[in-house]
Amino acid sequence: MYKSLLNADIYETDPELEKIRKDHGYSYSDIITLAKDILLDYEEKLKMFFQEHLHLDDEIRYILDGRGYFDLRDKEDRWIRISVVKGDLITLPAGIYHRFTVDETNYTKAMRLFVGDPVWKAYYRPADDLDIRQQYLSSIGCGCA
Ligand code: LAC
Ligand code: NI
Repeated sequence: MYKSLLNADIYETDPELEKIRKDHGYSYSDIITLAKDILLDYEEKLKMFFQEHLHLDDEIRYILDGRGYFDLRDKEDRWIRISVVKGDLITLPAGIYHRFTVDETNYTKAMRLFVGDPVWKAYYRPADDLDIRQQYLSSIGCGCA
Protein backbone atom coordinates (compact mmCIF):
# COMPACT_ATOMS: atom_id res chain seq x y z
CA MET A 1 0.00 0.00 0.00
CA TYR A 2 1.33 3.42 -0.94
CA LYS A 3 -0.03 6.82 0.02
CA SER A 4 1.33 10.16 -1.16
CA LEU A 5 0.19 13.74 -0.80
CA LEU A 6 -0.43 16.00 -3.78
CA ASN A 7 -1.99 19.41 -4.33
CA ALA A 8 -5.54 18.48 -5.34
CA ASP A 9 -6.44 22.09 -6.16
CA ILE A 10 -4.33 21.90 -9.32
CA TYR A 11 -5.01 18.30 -10.34
CA GLU A 12 -5.94 19.32 -13.90
CA THR A 13 -2.48 20.74 -14.58
CA ASP A 14 -0.28 19.25 -11.85
CA PRO A 15 3.10 18.17 -13.24
CA GLU A 16 3.64 15.95 -10.18
CA LEU A 17 0.49 13.98 -10.96
CA GLU A 18 1.49 13.88 -14.63
CA LYS A 19 4.83 12.36 -13.67
CA ILE A 20 3.22 9.68 -11.47
CA ARG A 21 0.82 8.80 -14.27
CA LYS A 22 3.65 8.54 -16.79
CA ASP A 23 5.95 6.56 -14.51
CA HIS A 24 3.26 3.99 -13.69
CA GLY A 25 1.46 3.95 -17.00
CA TYR A 26 -1.83 5.18 -15.53
CA SER A 27 -3.34 5.97 -18.92
CA TYR A 28 -6.99 5.88 -17.82
CA SER A 29 -8.67 8.26 -15.39
CA ASP A 30 -12.16 9.28 -14.44
CA ILE A 31 -13.73 11.10 -11.52
CA ILE A 32 -16.37 9.74 -9.18
CA THR A 33 -18.26 11.87 -6.67
CA LEU A 34 -19.78 10.03 -3.75
CA ALA A 35 -22.53 12.29 -2.48
CA LYS A 36 -26.22 11.68 -1.91
CA ASP A 37 -27.51 14.34 -4.29
CA ILE A 38 -24.96 13.67 -7.04
CA LEU A 39 -24.64 9.91 -7.35
CA LEU A 40 -27.94 8.28 -8.37
CA ASP A 41 -27.47 4.95 -6.60
CA TYR A 42 -25.44 6.37 -3.71
CA GLU A 43 -26.63 4.01 -0.96
CA GLU A 44 -26.32 0.99 -3.24
CA LYS A 45 -22.79 1.94 -4.34
CA LEU A 46 -21.66 2.54 -0.77
CA LYS A 47 -23.00 -0.83 0.27
CA MET A 48 -20.98 -2.50 -2.49
CA PHE A 49 -17.81 -0.56 -1.69
CA PHE A 50 -18.07 -1.56 1.97
CA GLN A 51 -18.36 -5.26 1.22
CA GLU A 52 -14.96 -6.91 1.58
CA HIS A 53 -13.48 -7.65 -1.86
CA LEU A 54 -10.38 -7.79 -4.04
CA HIS A 55 -9.50 -6.97 -7.66
CA LEU A 56 -7.25 -8.51 -10.31
CA ASP A 57 -5.48 -5.15 -10.72
CA ASP A 58 -4.16 -2.43 -8.42
CA GLU A 59 -6.76 0.01 -7.10
CA ILE A 60 -5.50 3.59 -7.43
CA ARG A 61 -7.50 6.47 -6.01
CA TYR A 62 -6.62 10.15 -5.80
CA ILE A 63 -8.83 12.05 -3.36
CA LEU A 64 -9.73 15.38 -4.97
CA ASP A 65 -12.10 16.54 -2.26
CA GLY A 66 -13.76 15.30 0.90
CA ARG A 67 -12.51 12.26 2.76
CA GLY A 68 -13.09 8.61 3.49
CA TYR A 69 -11.66 5.38 4.85
CA PHE A 70 -10.04 2.41 3.22
CA ASP A 71 -9.95 -0.70 5.38
CA LEU A 72 -7.25 -3.22 4.48
CA ARG A 73 -6.48 -6.63 5.92
CA ASP A 74 -3.07 -7.04 7.53
CA LYS A 75 -1.06 -10.29 7.58
CA GLU A 76 -2.99 -11.51 10.61
CA ASP A 77 -6.26 -10.78 8.80
CA ARG A 78 -7.10 -7.85 11.06
CA TRP A 79 -8.57 -4.66 9.60
CA ILE A 80 -6.30 -1.63 9.29
CA ARG A 81 -8.20 1.61 8.74
CA ILE A 82 -6.50 4.13 6.44
CA SER A 83 -7.93 7.61 6.57
CA VAL A 84 -7.77 9.38 3.21
CA VAL A 85 -8.28 13.10 2.72
CA LYS A 86 -8.06 15.62 -0.10
CA GLY A 87 -4.64 15.32 -1.77
CA ASP A 88 -4.02 11.67 -0.89
CA LEU A 89 -3.17 9.28 -3.67
CA ILE A 90 -3.49 5.70 -2.50
CA THR A 91 -2.56 2.46 -4.24
CA LEU A 92 -3.87 -0.91 -3.10
CA PRO A 93 -2.12 -3.94 -4.58
CA ALA A 94 -4.06 -6.43 -6.67
CA GLY A 95 -5.26 -9.34 -4.55
CA ILE A 96 -5.53 -7.51 -1.20
CA TYR A 97 -8.87 -7.70 0.61
CA HIS A 98 -10.26 -4.24 1.27
CA ARG A 99 -13.37 -2.10 1.58
CA PHE A 100 -14.20 1.59 1.49
CA THR A 101 -16.54 3.93 3.31
CA VAL A 102 -17.23 7.63 3.64
CA ASP A 103 -17.19 9.31 7.05
CA GLU A 104 -19.98 11.36 8.64
CA THR A 105 -19.50 14.12 6.05
CA ASN A 106 -20.77 11.69 3.39
CA TYR A 107 -18.64 13.20 0.67
CA THR A 108 -15.70 11.85 -1.32
CA LYS A 109 -14.62 13.02 -4.73
CA ALA A 110 -11.93 10.81 -6.21
CA MET A 111 -10.01 10.29 -9.40
CA ARG A 112 -9.81 6.62 -10.37
CA LEU A 113 -6.61 5.72 -12.19
CA PHE A 114 -5.88 2.62 -14.18
CA VAL A 115 -3.26 1.02 -16.38
CA GLY A 116 -5.05 0.50 -19.70
CA ASP A 117 -8.78 -0.17 -19.89
CA PRO A 118 -10.41 -0.11 -16.46
CA VAL A 119 -11.72 -3.35 -14.99
CA TRP A 120 -14.06 -2.61 -12.10
CA LYS A 121 -15.01 -6.16 -11.20
CA ALA A 122 -14.90 -6.88 -7.47
CA TYR A 123 -14.43 -10.43 -6.19
CA TYR A 124 -16.16 -10.67 -2.87
CA ARG A 125 -14.58 -12.62 -0.07
CA PRO A 126 -13.95 -15.55 -0.11
CA ALA A 127 -11.84 -15.32 -3.28
CA ASP A 128 -8.82 -17.23 -2.02
CA ASP A 129 -8.68 -19.61 -4.98
CA LEU A 130 -7.83 -16.82 -7.41
CA ASP A 131 -4.25 -16.79 -8.70
CA ILE A 132 -3.99 -13.08 -7.92
CA ARG A 133 -4.81 -13.80 -4.25
CA GLN A 134 -2.08 -16.42 -4.05
CA GLN A 135 0.37 -14.12 -5.82
CA TYR A 136 -0.43 -11.32 -3.39
CA LEU A 137 0.05 -13.63 -0.39
CA SER A 138 3.46 -14.81 -1.59
CA SER A 139 4.44 -11.20 -2.37
CA ILE A 140 3.98 -10.33 1.30
CA GLY A 141 5.79 -13.49 2.35
CA CYS A 142 2.70 -15.12 3.80
CA GLY A 143 2.56 -18.90 3.85
CA CYS A 144 -1.06 -18.79 4.92
CA ALA A 145 -3.93 -20.16 2.86
C1 LAC B 1 -13.57 0.14 -5.29
C2 LAC B 1 -13.16 0.61 -3.94
C3 LAC B 1 -14.11 1.51 -3.33
O1 LAC B 1 -13.42 -1.03 -5.57
O2 LAC B 1 -12.68 -0.42 -3.17
O3 LAC B 1 -13.99 0.99 -6.10
NI1 NI C 1 -12.03 -2.10 -4.47
